[in-house]
Amino acid sequence: MNNENIIEIKDLKKGYDNGKIKALNGMNLNVKKGEFISIMGPSGSGKSSLLNMIGGLDVADEGTINVAGIDMMKTKNLNKFRSKEIGFVFQMHNLIPNLTVVENVEIPMYETNTSSKDMRKKALALLKSVGLEDKVDQKPTKLSGGQRQRVAIARALVNNPSIILADEPTGSLDSKTGEVILNLLKDLHAKENVTLVMVTHEPYVGNMAERIVTVLDGKCLSDKKTSEST
Ligand SMILES: Nc1ncnc2c1ncn2[C@@H]1O[C@H](COP(=O)(O)OP(=O)(O)O)[C@@H](O)[C@H]1O
Ligand SMILES: [Mg+2]
Repeated sequence: MNNENIIEIKDLKKGYDNGKIKALNGMNLNVKKGEFISIMGPSGSGKSSLLNMIGGLDVADEGTINVAGIDMMKTKNLNKFRSKEIGFVFQMHNLIPNLTVVENVEIPMYETNTSSKDMRKKALALLKSVGLEDKVDQKPTKLSGGQRQRVAIARALVNNPSIILADEPTGSLDSKTGEVILNLLKDLHAKENVTLVMVTHEPYVGNMAERIVTVLDGKCLSDKKTSEST
């Protein structure tokens, strides 16, 4: 594996429905450590499937995929890999409604050996960094869509992941709130040198990345630098 690439994907294939649906059909993609890329393409083209394979939520049928030095086709401990290396931000934030905001952010730390005191400290510090210090004891249902997505970002960051996977993180937000969330992700990328892979179908969102990868019919079509790239 090239040391600079934190993600290396070669000829990756994934079928559903006994192979009738080819969600990934010979996907090739390399992502450098610390890079911010956006993945664009029509609905059903395989963007979420790709993110799920990178994050170890699903396993491919054929091909090779290495993420943060792990061979994803062979590793037995995907849960451990995921909690250590990956932070997910979904379109639907998937917060647990009967837990408070700070408790939601603590969830990924249960996979680690962190004491409950340190878990609380870490969660509160992250919530402060996303501007939610006055909402920590609320239930998510009391928050706006943008506030919930900020909780989801804090939760994604809590184990200091090397990669953040964001699947249409602004898809359910109005454009102004979406912009706040995007700027937050962009700042995190700049400050923490975390690798950011973001699926979007909005061109202005895609252009915030350093590189745009277009996906069609389960393959990566093109790779283009944006004005943000250096
Ligand atoms: N768990 C699944 N079971 C069956 N089909 C699936 C599953 N996940 C995705 N698909 C199918 O795979 C194709 C790619 O889906 P997806 O990766 O979600 O695309 P995108 O995120 O680009 O909209 C679609 O045809 C979709 O219906
Ligand atoms: Mg999708």
